[in-house]
Amino acid sequence: MSEFNLKNYLLFWSKKVDEWLNNYMKPNSAFSLGLTEAMRYSVFAGGKRLRPALIYSAYGIFESYFDKVTPFAAAVEMLHTYSLIHDDLPAMDDDDLRRGKPTNHKVFGEATAILAGDALLTKAFEIMTDKNINTDIPIEMMIEAAHKLAIATGDRGMVAGQFADIKAENSKVGLENVIFIHQHKTAALIGYCTELGAILGFGDEKDKEILKNFGQKIGLAFQIYDDVLDVTSTTEQLGKNAKSDIENNKATYTTFYGVDESIKIANELIDEAINSVECFKAASRPLVEIAKYTTTRNN
Ligand code: IPE
Ligand code: IPE
Ligand code: MG
Ligand code: MG
Ligand code: MG
Repeated sequence: MSEFNLKNYLLFWSKKVDEWLNNYMKPNSAFSLGLTEAMRYSVFAGGKRLRPALIYSAYGIFESYFDKVTPFAAAVEMLHTYSLIHDDLPAMDDDDLRRGKPTNHKVFGEATAILAGDALLTKAFEIMTDKNINTDIPIEMMIEAAHKLAIATGDRGMVAGQFADIKAENSKVGLENVIFIHQHKTAALIGYCTELGAILGFGDEKDKEILKNFGQKIGLAFQIYDDVLDVTSTTEQLGKNAKSDIENNKATYTTFYGVDESIKIANELIDEAINSVECFKAASRPLVEIAKYTTTRNN
């Protein structure tokens, strides 16, 4: 099989999305300068930009007019960044390091961090439904993209997972509860990303279903491996607080299965995911490489 340099591939897409974000995220008023500053601080703190890469990769199976995808990829990264800012708040995981930098609330204070998160969340929908930005996208497609994002990240998706995660702290919960947490807090958004590629690429309902399931599988593996890294890695390596889950007495895969078995489960999910996109043949290569990276990454 030919060489595929995932590092360069991820860098290419992250540059594209960063350029767009940098142009778009401008101050609105002298009275809200601090809000824009706080939003930009976390967005440009140095995330892996994995979700944008997944959107571009899934879209690439169908079409190659990638500029059309960039505002959507940027919107999803904004929403993801909001989830991290809120996840780190004292009332949630109470962490002081994120993306190698002090967390938003440590720098700007809790009130501004909450508001910066709120603004990043709502901005995602502002972008996805903007006719002047998305000039080549049919209105129905914008609605589908925005509606499915709301489902994947609201009280039927990510927020439900975050709620269950907090409720499971310091209490003995069953494995089913942990699976619910991981599927909702992380896998739902990642499954949305790969489905979004099919939506924007005019894929049919079957394509959307296959890619959503693919994303949900690697999303679950991604969160399982995030639990593993919390135990096995260091704060320096992760750019966020290692052992945070242990300190917060979280219900994680490693508390149920230990490190080795958790890695095995994650790898099985990745194999299943890879098999499920075989139907797209060579066009699925970037998705396959990202899937493999899920449990070989070190941050
Ligand atoms: C962190 O996501 C939150 C989880 C879902 C585990 P990432 O590991 O993708 O974080 P960034 O975007 O690279 O900072
Ligand atoms: C967070 O899960 C998932 C979301 C932000 C929705 P974690 O709490 O495990 O993420 P990290 O480890 O802080 O990045
Ligand atoms: Mg958390
Ligand atoms: Mg956390
Ligand atoms: Mg974690």
